[in-house]
Amino acid sequence: MPETVLVTGGAGFIGSHTCVELLDHGYEVVVVDNHVNSSPRALDRIAKIAGRPLAAAHQIDVRDRKALSEVFASHPVDAVIHFAAHKAVGESVARPVEYYDTNVGGTCALLSVMHEHQVHRLVFSSSCSVYGDARTVPLTEQSPVAPTNPYAHTKLMCERILQDVCTHLAEMKVLALRYFNPVGAHPSGLLGEDPRGVPGNLMPYVAQVAVGRREQLSVFGDDYPTPDGTGVRDYLHVMDVAEGHRVAVGHLDDRAGMQVFNLGTGTGTSVLQLVSAFGEVSGRPVPYRVVDRRAGDVAALVADASAVAAAWDWTTTRDLTAMCRDAWRFQELNPDGYSRRPRDVGGPT
Ligand code: NAD
Ligand code: WQD
Repeated sequence: MPETVLVTGGAGFIGSHTCVELLDHGYEVVVVDNHVNSSPRALDRIAKIAGRPLAAAHQIDVRDRKALSEVFASHPVDAVIHFAAHKAVGESVARPVEYYDTNVGGTCALLSVMHEHQVHRLVFSSSCSVYGDARTVPLTEQSPVAPTNPYAHTKLMCERILQDVCTHLAEMKVLALRYFNPVGAHPSGLLGEDPRGVPGNLMPYVAQVAVGRREQLSVFGDDYPTPDGTGVRDYLHVMDVAEGHRVAVGHLDDRAGMQVFNLGTGTGTSVLQLVSAFGEVSGRPVPYRVVDRRAGDVAALVADASAVAAAWDWTTTRDLTAMCRDAWRFQELNPDGYSRRPRDVGGPT
């Protein structure tokens, strides 16, 4: 019998790629997503790429315990991957209650329903944002945590809750993965990042400039103490993130309790390096101008990714060129995101 994995937020950017990866490796996949930040069309594309369907997709809110309990009652869930959350840092400052409600409240609702149905295996989406304003890089899992915005606080709070639940319930097995900066897209061009409104993150903004949807990129500061003065981040390919989750599911039984791992490449890339790589790969130079620093930004965030490599004998394999190439392919084939049929690929509507 194949294992069944319930994926909350499975229609989202990272969730959709992870569903494909799970289907490709023989898992049955049940998606729960309220589509507050995703399109149901992503679900059709998951099935198209994988060549087989999801076991089920339920359009419900993870905070709706009754509906969630019915989902658990109707599928033999072996493990859960919990992606569903709000993730925009700026928005979290403007609407903190919504962020705590969805991210913390949603995690509590999920945990209580998992407990009710005796499901004890969970992979949780955490974030490098829990480290806050890092004084030194690379960051290990033991580096001090110091969230600087409500979004990051919700992630750290969830980690604390999970830690307490694991202390209380001996059978719980939790892997919290602190992702650095996931970017890129599925190489088919069918799945990718489709932000609503003006992109807040660098890669989708660069891609929209390259495709002509936006005039030029604003580079937020070139006076940081980094080699070229622009911010340095640890970008990792969303396909590597997806693989990491599939590998994590296979390692949930390694030991009871909670473990925390960074997911990053260990390599820092500056804004200007990414802009230049994207221009080369796409053949479309990305016009930019340097503006003031963005409030709350830090100079450099880079993972020490050695712990996960040692624990699972697994590392990221895709480089910056692959990240740019795949992000560009998705942007070019889907200039308006999921709102239209992809160009030239005969994909689903
Ligand atoms: P995303 O917004 O693309 O995906 C999140 C999905 O969750 C969406 O499909 C959304 O509709 C769904 N969702 C939100 N609230 C829900 C609710 N109450 N009930 C049901 N579904 C709900 O985001 P993503 O980039 O795929 O991120 C996935 C996870 O990874 C999030 O928890 C995020 O905080 C975390 N994370 C993301 C990044 C990043 O840069 N993308 C970095 C670190 C951590
Ligand atoms: C990257 C670099 C910007 C946009 C965010 C969240 C973090 C995590 C990952 C969820 C920085 C610069 C950006 C632009 C620019 N997500 N930039 N012009 O801020 O490292 O991290 O995503 O957990 O919590 O905060 O990512 O892509 O916004 O910025 O110059 O238009 O690009 O200053 O140096 P960030 P980002």
